[in-house]
Amino acid sequence: MSSHPVFARLYGRFAPAAEQAGTGEHRDELLAGLRGRVIEVGAGSGLCFAHYPNTVDEVVAIEPEPYLRRLAEKAVGVAPIPVRVIAGTADNLPADDESFDAAVASLVLCSIPDPRRALEEIHRVLHPGGSLRFYEHVRSSDPRQAHFQDRIDGIWPFFCGGCHVNRESESAISAAGFSIERSRRFDFRPCAIAAPASPHIIGEAVRL
Ligand SMILES: C[S@@+](CC[C@H](N)C(=O)[O-])C[C@H]1O[C@@H](n2cnc3c(N)ncnc32)[C@H](O)[C@@H]1O
Repeated sequence: MSSHPVFARLYGRFAPAAEQAGTGEHRDELLAGLRGRVIEVGAGSGLCFAHYPNTVDEVVAIEPEPYLRRLAEKAVGVAPIPVRVIAGTADNLPADDESFDAAVASLVLCSIPDPRRALEEIHRVLHPGGSLRFYEHVRSSDPRQAHFQDRIDGIWPFFCGGCHVNRESESAISAAGFSIERSRRFDFRPCAIAAPASPHIIGEAVRL
C-alpha cells in the first residue's frame, strides 16, 4: 500500500471500529507469549502496539505508507514496550540476517504485492527457531465462497489499497520455510462490506 493515500486515510478512520468488533481480541491472541526482539511487517497505524506483552524487549515496526506511518508513530505512546517505527517494505526488510526472535504479520500478507518475497525476507531476519505470528484473512476453504472471492478480487484491490481476498497465506508461509505450529481458522467480519474477506487464520509458524 506504499502509495494508496485515500485507502490509508479510510483505514486510519475505520479500523479502530473493527477493534471493538473483535479485531482487538484477535490481536491479543496473536501476540500472547511473545518474547525478545520482534519485527512487525506492515504495521499500518500501529493498532497492534497496545497488545504486545511486556515480555517483548523491542518492536521494530516496518510501514511503507507515509500517512499510516505517522499514525503508527503516534501509537508508539500506547505501547507497553519500546517500539521503533521505520519506513520500509517487506520485500526488502531494513534488518540484518537472523536478528529477530519473532516476526508479526497482521492483516498484511493480503496487501503485500509479492508475499513470497516478503516471507523469504521474514525468514532471513528471524533466528532459526524464531516465531512468525500471523493473523490474516484468506481464501475460503468452501469452493463456492472461494469462487466468489476469485470473482470479486478483480476489483477489490483497486478499492482496498491493493488487498486481495483470495490469498492462500498459510500454504505460502509453509512454502517459505516455516513449520505451522498452530493455526485456527474462523469467519470474522467486523462490518457487512468486509464479507468477502471473512475467512481468517490466526496462529504461529516456526522458522526452520
Ligand atoms: C490492512 S493494512 C493492516 C495494517 C496493520 N498490520 C493492522 O493489523 O492493522 C495492510 C498494511 O500492509 C502494508 N503494506 C502494503 N504493502 C506492503 C509492503 N510491500 N511491505 C510492507 N507493508 C506493506 C500497508 O501499508 C498497510 O499498512
